[in-house]
Amino acid sequence: MRSVPAEAHIDQIVSENHLAGSGGINQLTVVGAGVMGVCIGALGVSRGLRVTLIDNDPGKIGMAAGRVAQEIRLAKLMGAVDRDAVPGELVTASSLAAGLPADAVIEAVVEIADEKARVLKEVSAAVGPDTLLVTNTSSIPVDELAAGLPHPESILGIHFMNPAYLIPAVEVVPGARTSEETKARALSLLAVLGRKGVIVGDGPGFVTSRISHRMINDAIKVVEEGRASVEDVDLLMQNCLGHATGPLRTADLIGLDNLADSLRILFERTSDDNFQPARLLLQKVAMGHHGRKSGRGFYTY
Ligand SMILES: NC(=O)c1ccc[n+]([C@@H]2O[C@H](COP(=O)([O-])OP(=O)(O)OC[C@H]3O[C@@H](n4cnc5c(N)ncnc54)[C@H](O)[C@@H]3O)[C@@H](O)[C@H]2O)c1
Repeated sequence: MRSVPAEAHIDQIVSENHLAGSGGINQLTVVGAGVMGVCIGALGVSRGLRVTLIDNDPGKIGMAAGRVAQEIRLAKLMGAVDRDAVPGELVTASSLAAGLPADAVIEAVVEIADEKARVLKEVSAAVGPDTLLVTNTSSIPVDELAAGLPHPESILGIHFMNPAYLIPAVEVVPGARTSEETKARALSLLAVLGRKGVIVGDGPGFVTSRISHRMINDAIKVVEEGRASVEDVDLLMQNCLGHATGPLRTADLIGLDNLADSLRILFERTSDDNFQPARLLLQKVAMGHHGRKSGRGFYTY
């Protein structure tokens, strides 16, 4: 376990005053230090929380503190974080024990149902019924993940998107077994993090992935068919339809491996052929072109 500066030039003291009114959420543990774990961790630290970021990949853990600091710097540059905000503390570790006890645990590991189920089971057993357990899944129904847990009433989905500190709204997804207390705790967490929660029904892809992943997959198929270039698809979607970045730039930001995993999950749970991952997407994933995080996807970074 390593305690490291979230931002080298700022003292990391979680001030009691700063946390007044934090709804009992002071220690946030995030499992998975990939694209989302890092930006959720950055959001938590920038909001004064003590964040423990955990990953089972030593390479990811080695880079996590620097990446969180970089995200906080970016958030400040973009005006998403107050320059004078008192930051919390970041701890990075490779085992869950380092992040316990916690007021809330956010699971942000790979979008593979068996792996998520295994991690969530371990966390649920370790934290007991009184800790808020959040999954950041993009597409797996929350009640499916709750099914194998010792405390299924304590889990709900909060669909943070990338970058979590910049996107003001999140989907909040209670499962069929989620308790009222868990929903209240989730709203406290969102208040501390300054995010607006929109409560939606459970089911594959909830609202946003169900709509956007199908559209991104179609955008990839348009390129695959040779109907338009990557740049022109994005240009048309931005300038004609008001898409903020274009679907293919969004795909690169999400991570093409994660997008393919999510599409597979959506296809398996809906039997809707539109969710069958495009061949071009699978080819890029196989070549290790995973988007921004690998330096190359539909664009080069
Ligand atoms: N990328 C996005 O834009 C985005 C947006 C919203 C939601 N999500 C969801 O967030 C979750 C994480 O996505 P991501 O893009 O950060 O993926 P990622 O591949 O970048 O990171 C996943 C991380 O989980 C780690 N991991 C895997 N198994 C683990 C375990 N047992 N214990 C600890 N760490 C483990 C991996 O080492 C990796 O660092 C997924 O469920 C994804 O669908 C992603």
